[in-house]
Amino acid sequence: MLRTERLLLHTWESSDWSALRPIATDVEVMRYITGGIPWTDEQIQNFVNRQVLLYSDRGFCRWKLLEASTGELIGFCGVGIWREALDPEIGWWLARSHWGRGLATEAARAALNDAFERVRLDRIISIAMPANVASLAIMKKLGLKLDAEFESDGVKLLRYAVDRQSRDQRERSKPLFSKVSPRLTSPESHH
Ligand SMILES: CC(C)(COP(=O)(O)OP(=O)(O)OC[C@H]1O[C@@H](n2cnc3c(N)ncnc32)[C@H](O)[C@@H]1OP(=O)(O)O)[C@@H](O)C(=O)NCCC(=O)NCCS
Repeated sequence: MLRTERLLLHTWESSDWSALRPIATDVEVMRYITGGIPWTDEQIQNFVNRQVLLYSDRGFCRWKLLEASTGELIGFCGVGIWREALDPEIGWWLARSHWGRGLATEAARAALNDAFERVRLDRIISIAMPANVASLAIMKKLGLKLDAEFESDGVKLLRYAVDRQSRDQRERSKPLFSKVSPRLTSPESHH
């Protein structure tokens, strides 16, 4: 399990599928996934079961997201397997009532760090429709770079990517002061 300020990123149990149902059947959530077609119960169950297996086989999955203050399941975020893609793919879905508060970015940072530092994945991709500006904004903020434009099932898609080595190098070349917590350098700390 991972913790952030507002979220818990948790492994799944098969029975969690029904808590994911309201999200995976929301037309707005599904707009840039299936073109707005809700997932069937079977698709939702298969998704959750794949995450259970993936975590036990490879030590990563698309974590279920619980709001820390309420324990409510509000979506998922993390690394999974995207269709035929060779590299693991990071993705995120949130319940619509939780959009626009920076929660997906907060979850994605934690999931990406964990996938590189603990799981030691070498390269992580992320795939979205060009119109999915919120999702693309998260990829860019996380340091992923546009890697390819391609088509799958007749749908145009963008692939972003980041690899551990270039990320490590970027971290090392950052000036020291940007690693210091802003709180430590704020005027309050001098009182
Ligand atoms: C994509 C999704 C997870 C974003 O969740 P979120 O918690 O609202 O995202 P954040 O608050 O962390 O915002 C991410 C960035 O996108 C921007 N953004 C969010 N919604 C936006 C919108 N509708 N239009 C333009 N920009 C938007 C935010 O401003 C933020 O960028 P900034 O930090 O530069 O301001 C959420 O919209 C969602 O669940 N969508 C449906 C599922 C989906 O499409 N998943 C991705 C599949 S590739």
